[in-house]
Amino acid sequence: MSQLPDHVGLDFGSHSVKAVQLEDISSNKPTLVNFGSQVTPQGVINSEDASHQQKLTDSLKALFDSAKIKEKRVVMALPEFSVFTRFTEYSGIKEDEIKNAVFYEAKRLIPLPIEEVQMSYLPIGYDDKRSVYKVLIVAAPRKIIDIYTSVVDKAGLEPVAIETESIAMGRAMYRSTGIKEILMLDFGAQSTDMSIMNNGFLVFAQSISIGSDALTQAIVNKFGFEYNQAEEYKRNYGLAEDVLEGKVAQALKPVMDSILVEIQRGMEFYKSRTLLPVPQECLLNGDGAMLPGLEKYMTDQLNINSKVGDPWTNIKVDAKYESALAKSKPSFSVAVGLALKTE
Ligand SMILES: Nc1ncnc2c1ncn2[C@@H]1O[C@H](COP(=O)(O)OP(=O)(O)OP(=O)(O)O)[C@@H](O)[C@H]1O
Ligand SMILES: [Mg+2]
Repeated sequence: MSQLPDHVGLDFGSHSVKAVQLEDISSNKPTLVNFGSQVTPQGVINSEDASHQQKLTDSLKALFDSAKIKEKRVVMALPEFSVFTRFTEYSGIKEDEIKNAVFYEAKRLIPLPIEEVQMSYLPIGYDDKRSVYKVLIVAAPRKIIDIYTSVVDKAGLEPVAIETESIAMGRAMYRSTGIKEILMLDFGAQSTDMSIMNNGFLVFAQSISIGSDALTQAIVNKFGFEYNQAEEYKRNYGLAEDVLEGKVAQALKPVMDSILVEIQRGMEFYKSRTLLPVPQECLLNGDGAMLPGLEKYMTDQLNINSKVGDPWTNIKVDAKYESALAKSKPSFSVAVGLALKTE
């Protein structure tokens, strides 16, 4: 497989677009060159409207300008809620027959007309005991790929690869921890993405359509605050029980619990589909992972050791960037993972 050159990892989120530029990505310890984020204009994510796409192009240009990124080559991620990731197994076939098997089965696995999606698959190992090939199928609507390719193009950048947020996240978390079995949660604004890595390969991903903005809204509803004030309360107090008599935590819990129901469902589905146990380590990412008390809450509720992720662990970071990064460690996990993609 061809090696990708150094490039910028570009993560389009509904709250912000994040960019990370690394160099020497094929080495054991790549170096951070530049990074930055820019608030996403409202309503532009996945929009086919030309004026929305122009707005997104403009913020991309502003992001590259303000972060002083000169590199034009980018690897981007499509929003997780717009892609389909499916684990499947094949027995009784030869390795070179996997491709045909995948395309044959895709119709059943992917809930969209096959001609409207771009499909790829990743062989993720052979189970000797059960004599099965394990495969991850990924499909993205061509329409969505076209939107981001055109936005990136218009911003004067060159897309060299596209992948899913979860695959990028898995790479970043594996590189930073060396752990091969991880449950990963990405707390975004509009959605919470859940994925599972087994033996170093991503095997499960799903997007839960409740994000961290719903937590802010719960505070608005409970206390009648303005949105910005509620956002401040969320960031300052979160799920901590020992402040304001735990009143903020009480407002947030019903929303957290609906996210947890979906996570539990995802874990049950994962176990039944893969016959594998759920990992005993959980890493929390996305800006929403900075919610006070989240580590403890997830550890208690899931009964899995949960920690905020830090994608920068095995990356050389110049002292001038350290204080800025310290404030937002889990924010850039997807962008770092994209920047680390070598093939
Ligand atoms: N310090 C903090 N504590 C708690 N929540 C925070 C903090 N900082 C940001 N957030 C929340 O994180 C969310 C934005 O996360 P992020 O930037 O990762 O989203 P995104 O990737 O742009 O969105 P999506 O994944 O939904 O497309 C917002 O709901 C915001 O309120
Ligand atoms: Mg995100």
